Amino acid sequence: MATMNATAYSFRPPVPTLRRDGNAIAILDQTQLPFRSEIRRLASTTEVAEAIASMRVRGAPLIGASAAFGIAIALATEGSDDATLDRALALLGATRPTAVNLHWALARMGAALRPLVPAHRPAAAWHEAEAIAADDAATCAAIGSHGLPLLADIAAQRGRVRVMTHCNAGWLATCGAGTALAPVYAAHTRGIAVEVLVSETRPRNQGLLTAWELREAGVPHTLIADNAAGLLLARGEVDIVITGADRIAANGDTANKVGTLLKALAARESGVPFYIAAPHSTLDFACADGTCIPIEDRGADELCIVRGIRCDGEGDGRVSALRQAPVGTAVANPAFDVTPARFIRGIITERGIVAPGELRRLYPERAR
Ligand code: MRU
Repeated sequence: MATMNATAYSFRPPVPTLRRDGNAIAILDQTQLPFRSEIRRLASTTEVAEAIASMRVRGAPLIGASAAFGIAIALATEGSDDATLDRALALLGATRPTAVNLHWALARMGAALRPLVPAHRPAAAWHEAEAIAADDAATCAAIGSHGLPLLADIAAQRGRVRVMTHCNAGWLATCGAGTALAPVYAAHTRGIAVEVLVSETRPRNQGLLTAWELREAGVPHTLIADNAAGLLLARGEVDIVITGADRIAANGDTANKVGTLLKALAARESGVPFYIAAPHSTLDFACADGTCIPIEDRGADELCIVRGIRCDGEGDGRVSALRQAPVGTAVANPAFDVTPARFIRGIITERGIVAPGELRRLYPERAR
């Protein structure tokens, strides 16, 4: 499969998802989207942990970068001794279990900071967190460049390319252009006729974030109910499926937002190629296969309560909540599923596109 030699591609998110603000960070609060672009200042480790757990910041790479800045905030405001560092690492590490980028970023922060004398740690922590964010932006750009030929080839044959995605793996989920959407933005920027089928992604509706992003960027797209994906794939109305990932095991089994597996199954049955786009920070070679990937269970309210703005002319334009299932309804809410490697045509990384079984070859330094 293709590796390297991709043309350079750059993308500047219209609003930074995350930026330093003194001894704090300013985030785009994704719980208010797609209705309000609200910037929220997080000035303590507890506030950063709350923002990650409640999904004010979300998407595997952005979760990792946010946690890294959370460590910097802890060392700048609470003290830079070992106990403070360990407490902050533990607090942030407990926020979300599936996205391995969180644990990757915290391990990187710990490894960079622990050997230093406490007095040197705060400045080094900001530096390392900024480096993680910059690395993510560069990684997203490379994923866009490597994924572009896939879309360009289809468009050259068929006159256009129809991409189905799931959840949100665009700029909102990263510090750069996104993962699954990076090739889409690269294609759109080059004038390739690309259209995106965006599945709603119940229960948290991250598809609405994807639709918002694509609308802001002028990329043609259509929002669909999750349950419509099988029909559209079977009818030949999709050329390629690309989703992001939260953790990829050594054999290529991939955890992503719940519902990804159903798309992969339907794509395989319909003969539509299914790709994952993900950075190195999503790889977990310590997991031999998907059976050891922890799957996050989230609360019942995510299914029982719907969120949006009032459409009767009342309200202040802020997001409010409506209960749709009675309190006490028995609910199961697994937030991710695992797509077996055999359903995945290729993984689009910053180093190139590989078959799932070739990941160890592409990352020999990580596979030891
Ligand atoms: O629960 P979320 O919204 O954090 O889940 C996000 C996803 O599943 C994304 O597809 C994944 O993190 C890749 S983001 C580039």
